[in-house]
Amino acid sequence: MTAVPSDNWNEATRLLREAQKIVVLTGAGISAESGIATFRDDRGLWQEFPPDRFATWNGLLETALLEPRKFAAFLTAVLEPIATARPNAAHTALAELEQLRPTTIITQNVDGLHQAAGSRDVREIHGSLLEIVRLNGSPVETLGRDDLLRVVEELRRAGEAGWAGFRVLRAIQPIFSVSLAGGRRPNVVLFGSQLAEPAWSQAQEDMRACDLLLTVGTSGTVEPAASLWSWGRQAGAKAITIDPHVRQGDVWLQGRAGDILPRLVQLLKAP
Ligand code: OAD
Repeated sequence: MTAVPSDNWNEATRLLREAQKIVVLTGAGISAESGIATFRDDRGLWQEFPPDRFATWNGLLETALLEPRKFAAFLTAVLEPIATARPNAAHTALAELEQLRPTTIITQNVDGLHQAAGSRDVREIHGSLLEIVRLNGSPVETLGRDDLLRVVEELRRAGEAGWAGFRVLRAIQPIFSVSLAGGRRPNVVLFGSQLAEPAWSQAQEDMRACDLLLTVGTSGTVEPAASLWSWGRQAGAKAITIDPHVRQGDVWLQGRAGDILPRLVQLLKAP
């Protein structure tokens, strides 16, 4: 991997020191080192599970009815890594940044790892897999990671018993059910759904107020989230990007978030 030039470290540290309001935009890449697959990398989730069948509520429902085994494989691929994940060095560094400088995190991730690392000012614009809501969006309960793991274990049992659709649906009842009483689903945003509120409205406000954008581990391809960056830039914010591949803004710190962010926070703390 290319080493980050020292000028880039210096410039990034200067921008962080001078900023009055930092907004950090995070995507799947920040959780990659916690063992959660990204979406669009070579081994990303959408390679095996195309979004038209797995990232819309209609597509998912159709797959559940017609291909319960494939549906269960997708759910396991999503749930198990999040159920067993712990915050990595990048999440922890951002929690520390919040203690040092005025910082808000806007994340597209649904894994709850920023909060688990200790960050407080977090907007989850794609919702959270740990929050369960009624089909109409009203809150029901917050699950723990162990609850997600139990769903994965039940899915395995459904497989051992022969992948009947009704067994798969029974296995996922803690997170998804359809009933006259209102049903339940995870509070996540799929394609074609509105972004999560109030997080999305707050995120737009944050863009108007910030003077530094720190983007970490997002390909920036999914709208309208991707537009936040341009809105911040149009409002005059400087921009730093941390990503092995994506280069945009004033300073590129090329590499893995778990290597770059802890070092950046160390430099910020140095006298
Ligand atoms: P993507 O999979 O599109 O992009 C992941 C980004 O992370 C890429 O730019 C990688 O280069 C980078 N990356 C990989 N490993 C990294 C590491 N260790 N450190 C830093 N960066 C790393 O994921 P997102 O941009 O988050 O939405 O995708 C946005 C949305 O697309 C998701 O929220 C989801 C998906 O479809 C919905 O499902 C609605």
